[in-house]
Parts: sequence; structure tokens; C-alpha cells
Amino acid sequence: MGLPKKLTEMQIKLIIINGSPIGILNLDFELTKEEKKNILGLNYAKDEYINCPLISKEVFLFKNKKFKRIEEILFRCVNQYKNEILKIDNDLRVIHSWATINDNTNHEQHAHKNSFISCVFYVENTGDNKLIFKVEKSTLEKCHYFDYKIKEYNWFNSSAWTIDINKGDIVIFLSDLFHQSINKGKKTMIGANYFLTGEIGTEKHYTYLKI
Ligand SMILES: [Fe+2]
Repeated sequence: MGLPKKLTEMQIKLIIINGSPIGILNLDFELTKEEKKNILGLNYAKDEYINCPLISKEVFLFKNKKFKRIEEILFRCVNQYKNEILKIDNDLRVIHSWATINDNTNHEQHAHKNSFISCVFYVENTGDNKLIFKVEKSTLEKCHYFDYKIKEYNWFNSSAWTIDINKGDIVIFLSDLFHQSINKGKKTMIGANYFLTGEIGTEKHYTYLKI
């Protein structure tokens, strides 16, 4: 499958589940000692579910100038995904940004509400950690909900897709896509949600909106 030139240069891997594109990049971008210290020094909470990751209480991490470098790099990647894969010309802005720490913990299935595009950046990763995307039905099952005899799982016959996480991976996806993580190791992640901003639509088509 031919990828857009710029993304090939950035070595983005594209996975498509039910028409929803998931982009995976690894820029070999490492946090500085100071940035790592600042991420690990955040206040973390564990929610009520058993064996869940620690999640930062801070949900607007990028408002802190200490994380500006990370914010800028992720924003560049997300814009590239928006421009080269989604092929839309609307502007984006970051809305939420947070961190999670997993240590043999699992993050239950969820999608990101009040968001358009989501991005996760694995700043540390050791062991066997997986990010799993799920849809209700595969493309084939949407056509006819048969119990197919699958020869080899691919984007058209699968309703779930598992990504093995590596240190430095940046995964970008549409926020409505359900996902979970299963971790038999340790990983630290910085996540961010993005929304459209500026002028959307036209008066001519009765769709003008400024947000
Ligand atoms: Fe998530």
C-alpha cells in the first residue's frame, strides 16, 4: 500500500480498523532527565478499578512550560496525521494532556470523549505491553454477521487489532476508537487529546461554526 510521501519519510506505520486509521511512529525521541523527573513527579491517582494504571491528576499537562518540547513534537506528529492521512485542512488544538504509569496493570476498554484525535507517547517501556483497538464488528461482519472461517487476520476480517508497544512509540488515532491496554511489564505514557479549532464549514452551506 502506498503511503503519502511525507509519512513514509517519517516512517509512520498505518493500521486501519473498520476504516479508522491508526498511525504509529517512532522518532527515537527521548525525554531529558529533567522531563522524566517532572513526569514521574506528578501527582497520580488510581481509580476504583482493580489493577489499573496510575493516572496523573493533571489533565492539562501541556499548560506547564516544562513540557513544551514534548507538546510541540506530538503536535507536529498529530498535524501530520491530520494532513496526510485524514487529508483535511482544519486546524487543531490540544485540549487534554496527561500521563499514566503502568506496572503489570491493565487499562480497561474506553474511548476518549470530547476529543477528535488522540495521541499516546510511550516514554518508557519494558516487558510485554500491548495496546488493543476494538470495534463492534469487522468490515466483513458489518456486511453479513457470519462466523467466518478466517485464514489470516487482516484489517477487513478483524474486529480487534493488537499493537506491541516499544519505547518511543507514538500512536495516533481517532478518539472514538475503543481501546484497552494489557501490560505484562512497565510503561510510562504521555497522552493528549486534540480538537478542531478555528472556522469550520461555510455560510454558503449553512454550516459555518467558529470554535
Ligand atoms: Fe485511552
